[in-house]
Amino acid sequence: MQENRNKTGFIFDLDGVIVDTAKYHYLAWKNLADELGIKFNEDDNEKFKGVSRKRCLEILLEMGELSVSEQQFEAWLVEKNEDYLKYIEKMDQTEILPDVEKVLQYLKKRNIPMALGSASKNARLILEKVRLLSYFETIVDGNSVTQAKPDPEVFLMAAAHLNVEASNCIVFEDAVAGIAAANAAEMTSIGIGASSVLSEADHNYNDFTEIDLAFLDKLIINSSIA
Ligand code: BG6
Ligand code: MG
Repeated sequence: MQENRNKTGFIFDLDGVIVDTAKYHYLAWKNLADELGIKFNEDDNEKFKGVSRKRCLEILLEMGELSVSEQQFEAWLVEKNEDYLKYIEKMDQTEILPDVEKVLQYLKKRNIPMALGSASKNARLILEKVRLLSYFETIVDGNSVTQAKPDPEVFLMAAAHLNVEASNCIVFEDAVAGIAAANAAEMTSIGIGASSVLSEADHNYNDFTEIDLAFLDKLIINSSIA
């Protein structure tokens, strides 16, 4: 990958950027919250975006003012994930968000290095389900990092794996914590979602249908059509 050194690299978050799995995370957390008698709605779920599974459960238990044993905590983490995986099992290519594949295809055609940078431990499984795994030179996910977003570790590791300078990386993110992580890594951040929420992003789009290829061209340096 020495040849990537002076190139622009693109790093994609997964949940909420490539696929709308936030709705499945919500349903699984809601099931657990109901079981524990904790009120939980879609607004509460915003706080869970980009945040590790463990941290999500800590937040949920704080909301319910519950303190539990380590063993119980681990059991609920497993329960939530097993529930979530029931939704993931049914996923296929139809769940790729609009125009995501168009952008991936364009960047691939231009020989641009691409990485996944996700907090999820299920990232590889989901990419397999929606058949997008082959676009990425590297997958950095919740199994690879020790620090969760907004720490920049996930994106810095992705840049290192691509052998691209951090300052030459562009990050697509839908979570406030993810935009903060990209900015802390001194990368260009592109918020996917409401600009009122992702106000710290360098650029903002509601979804990939709003991103034209000329904009991507402007972000790309030193690359050629493959
Ligand atoms: C992030 C999601 O991508 O992954 C969070 O935005 C989620 O909502 C986190 O909690 C961890 O996911 P998983 O699949 O490891 O439970
Ligand atoms: Mg996300």
